[in-house]
Amino acid sequence: MDLGISGLNALILGGTKGLGLSCARALVQAGVHVVLNGRDEPGGQAAAAELGNGTGFIAGDVSDPASRRQIFKGARARLGPIAILVTNSGGPPPGPLETHDHAVWLKALENNMLAAIDFASMALPDMREAGFGRIVNITSFTVREPYPNMGLATGVRAGLTGAMASLASEVAAQGITINNLLPGLMDTGALKRVYDAQAAREGITAQRAKQRMAESIPMRRLGTAEDFGPVCAFLCSRQASYMTGQNVTVDGGLVRALL
Ligand SMILES: NC(=O)c1ccc[n+]([C@@H]2O[C@H](COP(=O)([O-])OP(=O)(O)OC[C@H]3O[C@@H](n4cnc5c(N)ncnc54)[C@H](OP(=O)(O)O)[C@@H]3O)[C@@H](O)[C@H]2O)c1
Repeated sequence: MDLGISGLNALILGGTKGLGLSCARALVQAGVHVVLNGRDEPGGQAAAAELGNGTGFIAGDVSDPASRRQIFKGARARLGPIAILVTNSGGPPPGPLETHDHAVWLKALENNMLAAIDFASMALPDMREAGFGRIVNITSFTVREPYPNMGLATGVRAGLTGAMASLASEVAAQGITINNLLPGLMDTGALKRVYDAQAAREGITAQRAKQRMAESIPMRRLGTAEDFGPVCAFLCSRQASYMTGQNVTVDGGLVRALL
């Protein structure tokens, strides 16, 4: 299917691995000019080279407000106006809620809530000017259904979900859509950290913790990056122009909810 976005420019934050990279790959396949961001320079350059089609990479830490401005400025200088923004980063640490100290909460707020709001604010002027924009925030299924030991991640992402719901309605008349994409249990970097932590806590192997997760999913398998990226590209497409303010879950049926 032609997504109608060939030739547009996209910035993919946290786009050098896992789910962010899968979004970038699907957008490159749709003919979009992409800049990836991550903190690791060699890894980011390698990911950009692997995607090809002139994909660029800008190193920077989205949890740092000064670095955010540098990343956005660099992407805009390289590509021109940004029509598509995918916000993402590493997830906050797992663990019982009361074990996270104040500094860890503040870091998670910067990394997984304020960064997305800041980047969206920087991207909106060009999107308004063009009368077209797509913002996709990678959040988590835990916003719909809490998961053991993920209270910190759920708390800050619920905040982002509320802020983006408001913003989506504020910009809806300007051709700009804002949707959140909620991964379930996907076999990428962030999940590995969660099942490794479960294994260490419970004295079981990581393989057992991973298998137990897969068995909890109605589809009886973990998700993959390939399950995720094409959905992201669809939300960025012309065809998705009447969808905004939505929380789209990609989880193999994990969340048992009517809505
Ligand atoms: N996988 C799952 O099952 C699952 C489920 C629910 C929610 N999620 C959430 O979805 C997001 C992506 O998950 P994933 O499994 O794809 O993670 P991942 O494989 O660890 O990839 C994370 C990406 O973000 C980049 N990144 C991390 N911290 C950053 C920072 N401060 N500034 C800029 N870039 C940063 C990483 O590159 P560098 O390391 O080079 O910075 C990498 O490109 C995470 O927030 C995760 O918590 C994942």
